Amino acid sequence: MAYITQDPAEVPAPVRIGLIGSGWMGAFHAESIARRVPGAVLAAIADPNVESAGALARSLGTAKVTPNAEDILADPGIDAVIIASPARFHSSLIAQAAAAGKHVFCEKPAGQGLDELDAALAAVDAAGVHFQVGFNRRYADDFQAAKKDLAAGVAGTPQLLRSLTRDPGNGSIPNAARVPAWTIFLETLIHDFDTLNWFNEGAEPVEVYAVADALVEPGLRDQGFLDTAVVTIRYSNRAVAVAEANFSALYGYDIRGEVFGSKGMVQAGRATETAARRYTAEGMSASTPRLNVELFRQAYTEELADFAAAVRSERDGVPPSSSSGITLTPGAADARRALAMALACIESVKQGAPVAVAGLAAASGLSNKAGV
Ligand SMILES: NC(=O)c1ccc[n+]([C@@H]2O[C@H](COP(=O)([O-])OP(=O)(O)OC[C@H]3O[C@@H](n4cnc5c(N)ncnc54)[C@H](O)[C@@H]3O)[C@@H](O)[C@H]2O)c1
Repeated sequence: MAYITQDPAEVPAPVRIGLIGSGWMGAFHAESIARRVPGAVLAAIADPNVESAGALARSLGTAKVTPNAEDILADPGIDAVIIASPARFHSSLIAQAAAAGKHVFCEKPAGQGLDELDAALAAVDAAGVHFQVGFNRRYADDFQAAKKDLAAGVAGTPQLLRSLTRDPGNGSIPNAARVPAWTIFLETLIHDFDTLNWFNEGAEPVEVYAVADALVEPGLRDQGFLDTAVVTIRYSNRAVAVAEANFSALYGYDIRGEVFGSKGMVQAGRATETAARRYTAEGMSASTPRLNVELFRQAYTEELADFAAAVRSERDGVPPSSSSGITLTPGAADARRALAMALACIESVKQGAPVAVAGLAAASGLSNKAGV
């Protein structure tokens, strides 16, 4: 056997990524970059909790750790950042990262208000950096297969759409009192809003009507905590969608999406972990996924692979590699559209009435009144 010699000049330089925020989601993204995304390296981690960031860095062979995101932004050896800090920091970190010339992947929501998000997206625009938001469901195999069917017209003209999130739980919500207000819309249902927008591509969400309550933790209702919600959405193509969420499904993590149209129906998502079933004297059963990082392991990895490929393409001036044939990468407009819906839902709960989605109803030609 002889070695096959490789010319280092032909091996593209890896995309060097800095992670900002290394908690639950950031740690998983760190591991994906370090172990599962080819052509990317985890160059540094910033987190005020340097102890746990240090432990993560050591486990992944990353040398640089800092409590300050500014250190990563000032590092000329870093091409791009993944922002996975708490949501209240996202917009300002996006703006700072863009101003420093770093390409940005930001976990959802990209901001908590439209003004702050618009400022951040203006900075992205001015810097000409690549921006991607963490709507990972687009990268799940089944959601992508459904999207391809929809693009091919399998369901015909969309009439009814549905998306749901049921987070795994045991009937009570740990640290519920510390969950920031309106999380169910800003951080949970925002995924469903993006799925619906993506499935109903070309139409704009015009109006939402949200009903929400604390049914898992009723003792926290008076403090404004919400763990259960249903949202009706009217789109500019007159399709009607329903999004729903609950924070405690005893059977596991359950994410589904559906489009019903003039020619049929397309569905994505399943409550079971695999296609395997057990048939016994008691009946039929199947295992269910218990964690987001189990159900979406492949999707979380592929969204970062897409990001790294886009950064490499921008940095090295090479055309992006193969295209999936569908609209895929969630960018600035997608982040903004879904946030506008979440904010309209908050207003709808406060008013107990349907609310127009900011900036979109006027252009749609649809009345704001439900049922019109
Ligand atoms: N896409 C998904 O499916 C998904 C799933 C879970 C969480 N998320 C999102 O990821 C983000 C983080 O959520 P999480 O569950 O990992 O939270 P977390 O609390 O587990 O982690 C947040 C981390 O950020 C650090 N941090 C705090 N302030 C910081 C700052 N200014 N700069 C850098 N780091 C800072 C904290 O010390 C902590 O380690 C949220 O926006 C959340 O909505 C997305």
